[in-house]
Amino acid sequence: MTDPAHVAKPWAGRFEEPTDAFVEAFTASVGFDRRLYRQDIEGSIAHARMLARQGILGDDECAAIVAGLGRIRERIDTDAFEWSESLEDVHMNIEAALTADIGNAGKRLHTGRSRNDQVATDIRLWLRAEIDAIRAGIAGLVGALLDIAEREAETVMPGFTHLQVAQPITFGHHMMAWVEMLDRDSGRFRDCRARANQMPLGAAALAGTSYPIDREFTAAELGFERPAENSLDAVSDRDFAVEFTSAAAILMMHLSRFSEELIIWSSAQFHFIELSDAYCTGSSIMPQKKNPDVPELVRGKTGRIYGHLMGLLTLMKAQPLAYNKDNQEDKEPLFDTADNLRGCLKVFADMMQHLRCDRLRMRAAASQGFATATDLADYLVRRGVAFRDAHEIVGKAVAFGVCHQRDLGELSLEELRGFSPAIGDDVYEVLTLDGSVNARNHLGGTAPEQVRAAIARKRAALSMPGPMRQSATEPESASEQPGTGTA
Ligand code: ARG
Repeated sequence: MTDPAHVAKPWAGRFEEPTDAFVEAFTASVGFDRRLYRQDIEGSIAHARMLARQGILGDDECAAIVAGLGRIRERIDTDAFEWSESLEDVHMNIEAALTADIGNAGKRLHTGRSRNDQVATDIRLWLRAEIDAIRAGIAGLVGALLDIAEREAETVMPGFTHLQVAQPITFGHHMMAWVEMLDRDSGRFRDCRARANQMPLGAAALAGTSYPIDREFTAAELGFERPAENSLDAVSDRDFAVEFTSAAAILMMHLSRFSEELIIWSSAQFHFIELSDAYCTGSSIMPQKKNPDVPELVRGKTGRIYGHLMGLLTLMKAQPLAYNKDNQEDKEPLFDTADNLRGCLKVFADMMQHLRCDRLRMRAAASQGFATATDLADYLVRRGVAFRDAHEIVGKAVAFGVCHQRDLGELSLEELRGFSPAIGDDVYEVLTLDGSVNARNHLGGTAPEQVRAAIARKRAALSMPGPMRQSATEPESASEQPGTGTA
């Protein structure tokens, strides 16, 4: 950023002394809000067209403005634009360049508008597109998980509670749990987008404007659902920023939990999965190491996204109406949140596409730790034993197994009958892992049949025809689908 020492500030009229040099740098936002230049230009073009339509601007002036803004966009796109810190922010930089280019017509663009409604419009335009990209990223990850779930619908693994072996489940079922979480995440972003999609322009500084503007027209030009209802609220509201980072924080919480499982599962002690070398790094000192850096970093990034949510909540908590300069602080956390979310979703989807499962290790782990103890209790109940008594009986059998280092399926019929005469030789059917998972054959259960049905339902809801065929990069691919969150 170059800085011609004396760039005239658009608001210089009322001032006698120049801005302190440090204050100028301290208050400037162009270093980061220049990122909004496309939205700023889009908003200005719509505003100019509306002014011309209403007879507030001449058609020739409007045409000069639209052409001039197009040239500025081109210059910024190709890095040929000189940003100036004295011009404070993206809005004043573009306006000054426009006036330098087309003369007086440039000075008329800001009629009936303030930077307060301008910046609020720019961020909402930007956020809308980011949300679409993030939802596409979620859809990409969901697609990868559905493919794994299909492949591993019959893969038996131990299910855990308290990280202790609880009951056998299928790996496909486990993947589908993550799909549910991500589907809700996508829905939260969709809801946030719907509320953010109102146009602040026309609110001007805070009270509206005395020009005969047509806000409906500008809103339609910019694809907003409608103009914001109240001018004070329109310039000061940053709920959408808080909502967005809140949805982001929940998504990151999910990705962090997911990361944690991948890290545990890829350890030598578990070895349920193997992450592709492309997503791991080695150690400079320990030659044997293959570290799950990607999930670790995603888990780590969760902290900064939570921080942004707290930062934005705190930014807003004591602001009186309407616009305050505090609001300038909304951008960096939003940008950082969106960038990191996109990165995490992309790397996660790619990583999952290359995931390898060690089915034998999973099965072996499930056959240790008395995972079918509940099945034995249920078996006893079916034979007339009260559940609490059955629980007690099986507890004793487990204690015996622990003592002799044998799983329930490895105890002889005689040994088992020693705990309850209700046990017959058909007991081994329920003590097998496959018998256990197949028995949980109802909606939401872990049986392979149910996992396949759940995958089919999800694919239908998301209009994903089959493995690897979903259009993960189409932002709007399924946003109009009723009854589902993920697009
Ligand atoms: N850079 C400012 C922001 O990001 C733009 C709005 C400035 N408005 C004002 N009245 N100072 O919020």
